[in-house]
Amino acid sequence: MAGIGLSLPSKFTHGPAFSSSIPRSSSSRCYSSSVKMTVSVDETKKTFTLQKSEEAFNAAKELMPGGVNSPVRAFRSVGGQPIIIDSVKGSHMWDIDGNEYIDYVGSWGPAIIGHADDEVLAALAETMKKGTSFGAPCLLENILAQMVISAVPSIEMVRFVNSGTEACMGVLRLARAFTCKMKVIKFEGCYHGHADPFLVKAGSGVATLGLPDSPGVPKSATIDTLTSPYNDITAVENLFNTHKGEIAAVILEPVVGNAGFITPKPEFLNFLQKITKENDALLIFDEVMTGFRLAYGGAQEYFGITPDLTTLGKIIGGGLPVGAYGGRREIMEMVAPAGPMYQAGTLSGNPLAMTAGIHTLKRLQEPGTYDYLDKVTRQLIEGILDAGKAAGHEICGGHISGMFGFFFTDGPVYNFEDAKKSDTSKFARFYRGMLEEGVYFAPSQFEAGFTGLKHTHEDIQRTIDAAEKVFKNL
Ligand SMILES: Cc1ncc(COP(=O)(O)O)c(C=O)c1O
Repeated sequence: MAGIGLSLPSKFTHGPAFSSSIPRSSSSRCYSSSVKMTVSVDETKKTFTLQKSEEAFNAAKELMPGGVNSPVRAFRSVGGQPIIIDSVKGSHMWDIDGNEYIDYVGSWGPAIIGHADDEVLAALAETMKKGTSFGAPCLLENILAQMVISAVPSIEMVRFVNSGTEACMGVLRLARAFTCKMKVIKFEGCYHGHADPFLVKAGSGVATLGLPDSPGVPKSATIDTLTSPYNDITAVENLFNTHKGEIAAVILEPVVGNAGFITPKPEFLNFLQKITKENDALLIFDEVMTGFRLAYGGAQEYFGITPDLTTLGKIIGGGLPVGAYGGRREIMEMVAPAGPMYQAGTLSGNPLAMTAGIHTLKRLQEPGTYDYLDKVTRQLIEGILDAGKAAGHEICGGHISGMFGFFFTDGPVYNFEDAKKSDTSKFARFYRGMLEEGVYFAPSQFEAGFTGLKHTHEDIQRTIDAAEKVFKNL
């Protein structure tokens, strides 16, 4: 193995600790670190241990803050040892201890057609022969742009960037440039990436870790960020009344995933469209998570509400780093070089990310895709809720298409305050139990889960069986 005393026996390169019918990629496993550790897999071991993950994580903590490159991965809110992933395929993943998991995180959303899809990998290999980055226009950008524009009702023109954070930064600058107003309304528990103006009552890792608004964010960056509870019409009306003529935009997750899974009340999105129109403000759907997930055209197709601007990420990069923002032509033509609003990116529109996005979206266009996602996800969430209730736990939850979530509270959950009533220590115990049963959920009560086209009914039944067992012992 690559030069660091990390030895993996051949079994490790051929398959998981227990059997699976899902084929695996034969990716070579190279570790480029000077950390000294010896990792080997016990050929006879079938029990769940995380010994090698622990060694690797202890080493990582000396190298990277908290041992990770994104906070929720460190398992702080569920406790115990994070797992260190070796490989993924379809709906499954394997850690470096040889444990196999049914995966409901899907790399936090992108893996909707399944991990390491053979067609995507083959297309990437072809593209790679021509190079990995041009820093100049390429035809693949046109293809993905055309696919996004055809799919997403609000998007007439699109700008590709490299992450959801960048997309949200860009769209906010654009909304301010277009309206010549500075204030923005965001909702408590919604996450729009880690740019300064959005780190106010943010969801995702900020919510999971219970952090106050982050140090290092200047007051001047957030002074124009107004917040409201999600689903609260009166609070939004009050903000528009108090800040008359000053609000550039309302941005939201049209279905929240970053405070757990929370759906909009039926009238909420209509109301936001109406009040933004009446006040010459823009409505922005942050569809980094929901885009191409709730429906091919995202939440806006699903709910039949067309915002002014939309952000995308995750799925449109098919597992490679991508984000995008888009909207009406007259607004998008403000963006440089068509217009004066500056935004740029060295790797934006790079051929590998475009390729993975194109082939992922092609797969999603096949008939029956979203029906299948809905079917398996309904089976999953109904099974989990039934098992939890049968074992006497307070639990509520739901799903739309391949996005789901459940809270350890009776509910209903309409906003982040409701979500916070959940019994998070019970969630943590449930989480650890499920992990040991070979089921990988997001390691936080305040994150949504995802299914993909490679989740089988057998995967789902195994998950429900595991949940029944774990719920009984909570
Ligand atoms: C709704 C939403 N917006 C923005 C982001 C930020 O995207 P990224 O992590 O790619 O920067 C996320 C990430 O999870 C998200 O869920």
